[in-house]
Amino acid sequence: MTEMRNLIQPALILLSVLMSTTGTDEVIYAQVNDMVTLEPPKTYSPTEHYLYWSFGGLELAWRNPIGGSGLNAEEKDKLEMMKWKDILIWSGNSLIITKIPQGQFGTFTCTLGRDKIEKNCKLLRLQVSMNQTSPLLPGDRVSLTCDAEKPHSLKSPQIHWLNPQGVRIFGYQQTVTATGLHNGEWTCVVTNDNKEKRAKIKVTVVDLSPAPTSPLYTSKSQPLTIPCSIPSGISWEQVKAKGVQGVHWDYFPNTGLSHISGDPQRLFSLSLNDTLRWQPDRSRGLTPVSSLIKGNLSLFINKAKEEDRGDYVCTMKFRNGVTLKRTVQVNVLQIISSPETDLISGQQLNLTCSLGRLLSSDLQLKLIPPEQSALQLLTSDREPALLNIPEVGTGDSGKWRCELWQRSARLTYAVIALKIEPKLSVWMLIIICSVTVIVLLLLVLVFILCHRRQRKMRHPRHRLCHCKNPKPKGFYRT
Ligand SMILES: *[C@@H]1O[C@H](CO)[C@@H](O)[C@H](O)[C@H]1NC(C)=O
Ligand SMILES: *[C@@H]1O[C@H](CO)[C@@H](O)[C@H](O)[C@H]1NC(C)=O
Repeated sequence: MTEMRNLIQPALILLSVLMSTTGTDEVIYAQVNDMVTLEPPKTYSPTEHYLYWSFGGLELAWRNPIGGSGLNAEEKDKLEMMKWKDILIWSGNSLIITKIPQGQFGTFTCTLGRDKIEKNCKLLRLQVSMNQTSPLLPGDRVSLTCDAEKPHSLKSPQIHWLNPQGVRIFGYQQTVTATGLHNGEWTCVVTNDNKEKRAKIKVTVVDLSPAPTSPLYTSKSQPLTIPCSIPSGISWEQVKAKGVQGVHWDYFPNTGLSHISGDPQRLFSLSLNDTLRWQPDRSRGLTPVSSLIKGNLSLFINKAKEEDRGDYVCTMKFRNGVTLKRTVQVNVLQIISSPETDLISGQQLNLTCSLGRLLSSDLQLKLIPPEQSALQLLTSDREPALLNIPEVGTGDSGKWRCELWQRSARLTYAVIALKIEPKLSVWMLIIICSVTVIVLLLLVLVFILCHRRQRKMRHPRHRLCHCKNPKPKGFYRT
């Protein structure tokens, strides 16, 4: 019996030593002011054990097997204890530090009364910082640092960053030349013992949103918004604070095929006084969108014409010499009917659909006749798409569409309405002429007849005269 006890005792001690050193120690990363949850060891049984949490030899909190719990406030360390009391709460079996102060990182020890099992929670500080003050301007060099305290005698944590687009970047420090893409929330991820801790830092870069990567297409039938904006989350106050000097839109005429590159025209300038307002210089039928106050600098174009083809440039200038520019290429699809849109059947007609610039190999023009037309859809890989109709018919009247396709996507379309009147045919002419001739003949006949009757009525004496000359005596009354 005593031999058995002698064997079991050292085994139990060895077991508890193993558990306290290997299995139950925990590393917790936290930022200053984070909430931290301290969990008791896995072997903790609430109905059996007394449990104490201590920090630097100071007992902070306790919990007994009959369900009682409390926070200690010893007289001798009153100031310190009061502070702990304000930030500690029990939540079930866990002790929660609601807001960990700067100076209170370190090892928190949990002791289970009867078995003298200990668990050490190493609370380590995680700090993310930036070596510049936000907001930044594009071109500014900025370093983001994720500083995680090393757990002594334990293996170092792995650190990586997630940029605002959520892309993983390795290394605890990131140095970048700021652009609008860096604007947003950066996250440092610290991985230790399969546990992840995330710390965020916000980077604000005053920039213009990226211009569309491909040209924009529009027509008389499809309005277009020419985009330009400051990223959401940046206010005009921040832009002004960075020393903005001017914001404007310019237009560079560019008629693709003819290589005429006209002088740039100033379209709008932004008045940066107390009330933000666009001042038109030469608006060319464009209108600014209404959400300027939210940082939306876009322009709206309705019923774009051939003369609106070109580059639209949105510019923002700062006092320190930084100039931000976004260029949007606008292409206008046009459908033209020659000689005109009101025709008589049988006339020759040319329909031209054009973009005003060479088509890249993935673009296609489609000229679509109205439903009732006998003509086929015309597809062209070349510019312009030209349909020559030697004789139009009344079935060709209606809406003709020209569409611009990029592989399986329609980029834009333009519509033209043709009005085609029927031509008078030869037979119809013959019938009309015959009817006219017959009517005329009838009229002449009627006229002659009437005339003859009238003559008879006007000269009734003829009959008397007839009788007078031979003077038949018996009829002569007077
Ligand atoms: C700006 O306004 C236009 C028109 O209202 C809208 O289509 C566009 O999405 C807006 N852009 C941004 C970035 O909010
Ligand atoms: C139509 O185009 C052809 C050449 O493609 C031209 O000879 C003809 O004069 C044009 N007709 C009209 C009505 O424009």
